[in-house]
Amino acid sequence: MTAHDAAGRRPAEGGSPGIVTGRQARPVVVASANGNQFRNGGPLTCVEQAFALLAGGADPLDAVIAGVNIVELDPGDSSVGYGGLPNADGVVQLDASCMHGPRRRAAGVVALEGVRTPSLVARALLERTNHRMLAGAGAQAFARAIGFPIEDDLNSPRSRGLWLEWKRRMAAIETADPIARMEAGYRVGQQMLVEGLIDVNHYYGTINCSAVNARGEICGVTTTSGLAWKIPGRVGDSPVLGAGLYVDGEVGAAGSTGHGESNLYALSSFLIVEEMRRGAHPKDAGLEALRRVRANTVDPALLDAQGRPAFNVKYYIVNARGEHAGVAMYGGPQVNYAVCTGHGAETRPCEALFDEELTLTAAP
Ligand code: GLY
Repeated sequence: MTAHDAAGRRPAEGGSPGIVTGRQARPVVVASANGNQFRNGGPLTCVEQAFALLAGGADPLDAVIAGVNIVELDPGDSSVGYGGLPNADGVVQLDASCMHGPRRRAAGVVALEGVRTPSLVARALLERTNHRMLAGAGAQAFARAIGFPIEDDLNSPRSRGLWLEWKRRMAAIETADPIARMEAGYRVGQQMLVEGLIDVNHYYGTINCSAVNARGEICGVTTTSGLAWKIPGRVGDSPVLGAGLYVDGEVGAAGSTGHGESNLYALSSFLIVEEMRRGAHPKDAGLEALRRVRANTVDPALLDAQGRPAFNVKYYIVNARGEHAGVAMYGGPQVNYAVCTGHGAETRPCEALFDEELTLTAAP
């Protein structure tokens, strides 16, 4: 009978190039910038909470999920959990996924309503079943069955108010054609961004957080309310393994915020981890994914006047040694990522494919 290693693999299942085994790493937590911003009235940000747990010996997945729970519960972040911007019907529908590198386990929930912390439901799916993804009513029934309280409405006064303003503007759109209304809804949302009613970081929103502990064990989580005013049922990249999150326990982790449809097409997080497996530094692996997204963006509705993507997308990346990077399609003072090490938490600028800020224009 073949012996298995501590992770339950047969020896022949490991051994990809670039793998670091029996390693030590600099413990680090890496997240999107909102991971070092929101505290939900408590003392710690997401990355501080996650690092404190990591330093105390917690499992890295427990650490990052406790971190993102702060942001999911904080209505100040209108792109994640409670108070996330709702779909076109005014309903908050949440997506989340998580991956445990050493244990080779992963799960996601999509279009989940009524639970403030979808990351915890994804975590329960990972721990307690062999399923990888649950959707909509099924995900909610699973959450209810294992004891999560189900709320009627996850809107905060602010998210409800912004949706009512979007609805007011949509009332002036005369077409009944569903596709034309969808396109008009996107334009109306863009106009609200241009007017500063919605923070550009909260239109697609999301938080991603990954951690590496001193033994080089890697875990990650991504959680979001998705695109504001989305078609009900729309699923973004965040819950899709390989798109909005990917962890390989021997190589590293990548996750994303921003334009989810681009990551669904490119499977960007998987691409980044595979680049790192081939030896790329996290920054170079992330820039390669951005170049891929740029090359794939050919729809005129998604291009600016210079033929470049008319949206931002960002990646947060860490390898098994604890080296990390944040990269983005467009740069500027608002385009950052969060890091916490034994020296404390900081917010750092992302490396950008295009150094200038994304120019917001209302689509014609
Ligand atoms: N990146 C989040 C979303 O597109 O849903």
